[in-house]
Amino acid sequence: MGGLRRLEYRGYDSGGVAIVDTAATTPTIAWAKKAGKLANLQGVLDEQPLPPSSTGIGHTRWATHGAPNDVNAHPHLDADGRIAVVHNGIIENFAVLRAELEAEGHELVSETDTEVVAHLLHDELERTPDLGEAVRLVCRRLEGAFTLVIADAAQPDVVVGARRNSPLVVGRGDGENFLGSDVAAFIEYTRDAIELGQDQVVVITADDVEVTGFDGSPAEVTPYHVDWDVSAAEKGGYDWYMLKEIDEQPQAVADTLLGRHTPDGRLQLDEMRLSDDELREIDKIIIIACGTASYAGLVAKYAIEHWTRVPCEVELASEFRYRDPIIDPRTLVVAISQSGETMDTLMALRYARQQRARVLSICNTNGSTIPRESDAVIYTHAGPEIAVASTKGFLAQIVACYLLGLYLAQVKGTKYGDEIAAIIGELEKIPAGIQRMLDDAPRVRKLAADLVDARSVLFLGRHTGYPVALEGALKLKELAYLHAEGFAAGELKHGPIALIEEGVPVFVVVPPKARDQLQDKVVSNIQEVRSRGARTIVLVEDGDDDVLSAADEVIRLPKVPTLLQPLVATVPLQVFACELATLLGHDVDQPRNLAKSVTVE
Ligand code: G6P
Repeated sequence: MGGLRRLEYRGYDSGGVAIVDTAATTPTIAWAKKAGKLANLQGVLDEQPLPPSSTGIGHTRWATHGAPNDVNAHPHLDADGRIAVVHNGIIENFAVLRAELEAEGHELVSETDTEVVAHLLHDELERTPDLGEAVRLVCRRLEGAFTLVIADAAQPDVVVGARRNSPLVVGRGDGENFLGSDVAAFIEYTRDAIELGQDQVVVITADDVEVTGFDGSPAEVTPYHVDWDVSAAEKGGYDWYMLKEIDEQPQAVADTLLGRHTPDGRLQLDEMRLSDDELREIDKIIIIACGTASYAGLVAKYAIEHWTRVPCEVELASEFRYRDPIIDPRTLVVAISQSGETMDTLMALRYARQQRARVLSICNTNGSTIPRESDAVIYTHAGPEIAVASTKGFLAQIVACYLLGLYLAQVKGTKYGDEIAAIIGELEKIPAGIQRMLDDAPRVRKLAADLVDARSVLFLGRHTGYPVALEGALKLKELAYLHAEGFAAGELKHGPIALIEEGVPVFVVVPPKARDQLQDKVVSNIQEVRSRGARTIVLVEDGDDDVLSAADEVIRLPKVPTLLQPLVATVPLQVFACELATLLGHDVDQPRNLAKSVTVE
């Protein structure tokens, strides 16, 4: 349980453990699982302890497929109760595999993709008795991202792990070995670790570790020593959860896209409980959200209107129901919320439902109140976000909104299939673009050190760069407690320009070159502030040198379509705010006066 508790930051909607009970006449699997935080599981174990054992597996869940309840909690067992499986990730082809299994007479009890693996293994072990080999064969049938850890009552000395895309680490002890999705799981027992590579299976016993590829070929492994303390280990070696979450953004974006389209670019959203006919009737979209989520909505408005030609408004949830908004059954209200519990958003959603609007939510927390009360949901797959200031949640929300926009375009026929496929192709390149921005973070940190004495920082942007400017300013307010404001660059001359004085840092997000007219105007805006003494920090795409003469500092962005630019341009602003706050000695993960999830109106 100690190891699981250290992994609780990775997911905490349910937990479970399974051990091989070797004291029984025939070894069997004994297990316990419970929805909610690990304390609930501990309660179950206190009442009914499992027998002592030297072989066991455990899991703390962050639901993707299936609500976070007792039945869907891991481990999942095969029908004979011989094999126990825990799993992180998303098995993309689970629906096909499940249908095959059911056709063969298997009865699955949960809604998870994981249970499919237990049943596939059950069948495979009848043909291939060796657990390691059976796991390799099953893995070759799985698509998507997964880490699997498996115990088999018939092979009580062995635990097998497998990994594709999701992490899995081996801990090497003395007469004991461990598997964990990160080293925090076993750091109290050993600091000697081996990281598994892509598409590898590991078979551990108390004394031995054997790693192979999914094809059975032996794999080279590189052992390493972990010198983090326990608290650093939980944060993956980072000083702050926020830094870790910033670095997880390529994965958050990739996971949110995973399984949402066919290879030829047709959108498929399994939790979309609104029929095509219902969606075709939609003639207005209203996005409601708070804080960072509302800026994701502002970004989305540009894309959704462009792709669907349906008018899209974005409104702060706290304002929405107090102004008598015009809503009817043809209105789609989209509630965006990382936590799924924000009271302002929930109240706005309930109001929209009373007015007979259709309600769809975009949420990162499976089973939370907002998706439960919605007609449809698109989950972001960012994983749990612990730092109060949202980072990976924000980018994943934007991606989910894009999926919604493209899905509506597909249903309404406002975009051709090949156009949609092309946009998805561009979205799939975004994780690499974000990674590039992360690789460039040391330069941004240095800039923060240079600007540590700033009293006020301004952010300018146009088009999708405008919400990015708002988000950059919000991050700085939240973390560094600095006066920071984001403006639409065109509004500058209507007031905010009076704020410019000698040395004030002004970040400017420059639209891609393809937006010629807009770009020229932004260049003029940069010159306007610079000639009044501002220190300009310009975010501009590769190869665009027109703004260089007006820039004191340049942050380069990869070339991406205009509508997708926020997904890369936001990253350096997050890094900047986080670094500045650290330099000022603030608690980055828990800024003063703020809460992660605000459950009061
Ligand atoms: C709070 C948090 C913000 C967050 C907002 C919306 O104010 O401090 O970081 O953006 O709530 O949260 P939600 O969970 O609804 O996305």
